[in-house]
Amino acid sequence: MADPARIAVLLSGTGSNLDAIVEHQKHTDAYRVTQVISDNPAAGGLMRAAARGIATTALPSLADMPRAAHDQAVQAVLLELDVDLVVLAGYMRILSAEFVRTFHGRMLNVHPSLLPRYRGLHTYRRALENGDLWHGTSVHFVTEELDGGPVIGQSRIPIHADDTETTLRARTQREEHRLYPLCVAAVSRGRIGVAGDARATLDGAPLDLPLDPAALANLEAPICPV
Ligand code: GRF
Repeated sequence: MADPARIAVLLSGTGSNLDAIVEHQKHTDAYRVTQVISDNPAAGGLMRAAARGIATTALPSLADMPRAAHDQAVQAVLLELDVDLVVLAGYMRILSAEFVRTFHGRMLNVHPSLLPRYRGLHTYRRALENGDLWHGTSVHFVTEELDGGPVIGQSRIPIHADDTETTLRARTQREEHRLYPLCVAAVSRGRIGVAGDARATLDGAPLDLPLDPAALANLEAPICPV
């Protein structure tokens, strides 16, 4: 891992998490976003990256292009750039097994639910329909199981009686913007890792529960000699 770690962000949409991750660079020397890649040439996130002077690549998936062929094109760019970590931030593609294996332990995703609840789409709607009292967001290592990899961090918020999908999404995304940069920093520093496909580790020991933003921020704090 380079110091700072070289990060590629993959996105398909707005890029608010990209913004949060790049903004956090003002507070950490653990990583630098060196490349943003999108399958959607019109993604707002590509424009946000370009406005910040970050290199961008659009790799649209052509009609009838097999998933593995598109992933190989993305993989070729990532290997050429020699990135340390791949950070998925609203990347709306299911990844091929080979791509996932290539970046095992080096690829993160943020998912808008308290995993293992609500893998997949429409998490806000499902939480509201079920009358849940809590929602939140999770950052996890990517494995071949969709939204099923070892969870690193979670941030939990109460669901209000008058919440709609829109209000719940807005509050959840605010939590993502706190949580995701801290997870990226902790993995970049090598404090957080992964044991197989099952468990995240903290300083080599299995993590029993996901870390919350306060615990993750502590990992960034300077260690006081005793
Ligand atoms: C995030 O809310 C994340 O949970 C989901 O995709 C969304 C991307 O949002 N995986 P943005 O493009 O970062 O604003």
